[in-house]
Amino acid sequence: MKLMNISLFSGVIFAFLIIYLGSKENTVNYKVQNEKSVMGIERSSYGVTENDEKIDVFKLYNLKGIQVSIITYGGRITAVETPDKNGNKENVVLGFKNLEQYEKPNPYFGALVGRYGNRIAKGKFTLNNIEYQLAKNNGENSLHGGLVGFDKVVWKVEKIEENETSVVLKLSYLSKDMEEGFPGNLKTTVTYTLNYDNSLDVLYEATTDKTTILNLTQHSYFNLSGDFSHTILDHVVEINADKFVPVDNTLIPTGNLASVDDTPFDFRAPTLVGKHINSKNEQVTLGGGYDHCWVLNNQGKGYRSVAKAYHPDSGRTMEVLTDQPGMQFYTGNFLDGTLPTPNGGVFGKRSGFCFETQHYPDSPNQPQFPSTVLDPGEKYETKTTFKFSVN
Ligand code: GLA
Repeated sequence: MKLMNISLFSGVIFAFLIIYLGSKENTVNYKVQNEKSVMGIERSSYGVTENDEKIDVFKLYNLKGIQVSIITYGGRITAVETPDKNGNKENVVLGFKNLEQYEKPNPYFGALVGRYGNRIAKGKFTLNNIEYQLAKNNGENSLHGGLVGFDKVVWKVEKIEENETSVVLKLSYLSKDMEEGFPGNLKTTVTYTLNYDNSLDVLYEATTDKTTILNLTQHSYFNLSGDFSHTILDHVVEINADKFVPVDNTLIPTGNLASVDDTPFDFRAPTLVGKHINSKNEQVTLGGGYDHCWVLNNQGKGYRSVAKAYHPDSGRTMEVLTDQPGMQFYTGNFLDGTLPTPNGGVFGKRSGFCFETQHYPDSPNQPQFPSTVLDPGEKYETKTTFKFSVN
């Protein structure tokens, strides 16, 4: 009798368990059928900076696709997990394990770059007859906004939103008049939007109260293999550009725009990154590989598809869309095996590449280049999209 009671009891428990698991299963099934319920954004603490500022990490996810992690320190993308052709998810952007590593000197991993992405010759420029001097933090030039650029400041969270087919994280930063030597109080917002189609939009907006210069970009390094011990030389890249910006030996533009015809800079058809990267071509040699701005085609058309990268083994593909005139394609030539990966390895030379959509380097000193001047009353607004898929 006792025995029967026990088996009856365990039978009932078992039945409840089945019903419970079944309902859980149903919830999951329901979720993947509904676009809204597969997308979300989660906030958690990422630690405290050396200056005692609290940093958060946001996970923007699409359960049917990719997950993007962003921290408020430098507005940095710390990870983008994307599936390969077999559905295995791996992180495809170079990043560190913790905040402490991000605060140490590093080459702008995942960072928002400003006020001026890329180089300004001798850190000098003139606006309305006033000469401004920036820090020379890259040899004799200024690079990526100076000593404490937008990559090293703490961004404020303006808005978190979950919509039908997207999740949104809007960050803001007020750069004070003459901060890092740039004129004007500059109010900047950067809105990251992860869409249901696995695209990540980066919308930059800014206004100033004095005439200034501005060239914002995103400095993520990608390795679509998901294996950081692997170089990116086997990636296939396509850049829709008939010209590029040749540079001198300090990587400052010579002032001319050169045709990519019959050069290692011709990526108009899909081309292996490693194909000409060790060529004796003078420009490739100066960059130690690719570290140049491509003059994107169809500038009059505004926001358009400009580039693609494809990793044949994993099938992972990334497309870039932007309204910007240029894109710096940098092949991680300065990575030298000294920075740690999150899983115990090191980032070796060419273990990642950047597609930094932007204006041409040194535009403030090159009047023939599209202008990077922002006046009071004007609104700076530009959008770039990184769209992930599998082929
Ligand atoms: C940009 C520059 C490179 C390098 C990296 C960061 O891409 O053009 O020369 O400075 O940033 O190291």
